[in-house]
Amino acid sequence: MNKQRILVWDLPTRVFHWLLAASFLGAFLTAESERYRDIHVVLGYTMLGLVVFRSLWGVVGTRYARFSSFPIAPRRVLEYLKSLFTRSPQHHVGHNPAGSLAIYAILALSVLAGATGYAAYNEIGGEWLAELHEGAANAMLGLVIFHIGAVMVSSLIHRENLAAAMLNGYKKGHVGEGIRSKHRFVAAAVLLVAAYFWAGSAGLLPDAIGVPAVAAVSPQIRGEHG
Ligand code: HEM
Repeated sequence: MNKQRILVWDLPTRVFHWLLAASFLGAFLTAESERYRDIHVVLGYTMLGLVVFRSLWGVVGTRYARFSSFPIAPRRVLEYLKSLFTRSPQHHVGHNPAGSLAIYAILALSVLAGATGYAAYNEIGGEWLAELHEGAANAMLGLVIFHIGAVMVSSLIHRENLAAAMLNGYKKGHVGEGIRSKHRFVAAAVLLVAAYFWAGSAGLLPDAIGVPAVAAVSPQIRGEHG
């Protein structure tokens, strides 16, 4: 049966992906600067919040967003990688087994970088925590570079633009394999919470709305640092 254009990535998964990518790149670029420390911290907290959301969406989300659809399976990773050197490379509608492994590593490193960053920033623990924070961020950069390279190679092998699929949600597949709903409202809620958090952190919200979440977590924003 011929393959068609089917909806694979719901909107919350795509919003999560690009917010995480932007937050990580922003946090990485502002890491060394005292001047942009607030931005660095806010983007780090954003990453932690996004991973919390993704963990929930991985349980209650749509077919290809659910963790059960992309388990950690080392044997399947090897089989998949071997198949790439044959005439009929495996094609997966959702995440391929190698991509799945990288995704779990990125999620775990986001938590490690976020948690150690929070601890170091709030002067909990010693210098080693700050070192661990930097190590986690560097490991994540390496993984992200690998991830982007793998997406490009995979796109070439399967003659399918995977980056575009992460933007518009559509991939090639058989009728019946696609998901039915984009879940626009959930995606809008994720965007709204992120916008509220960023606007609050930038001091753009009126006092009546307040910024409890930011004020509670950041001594610099509370005015206790520098
Ligand atoms: C230009 C940059 C990027 C492109 C083109 C890109 C593209 C993609 C694509 C195509 C997928 C789906 C992979 C698959 O088919 O299995 C994906 C998944 C993913 N990417 Fe990226 N990515 C980029 C940057 C990043 C960055 C910077 C991060 C992390 C900081 C990241 C984290 C993830 C995660 C966590 C997933 C899993 C999405 C989910 O199921 O929730 N990506 N990416």
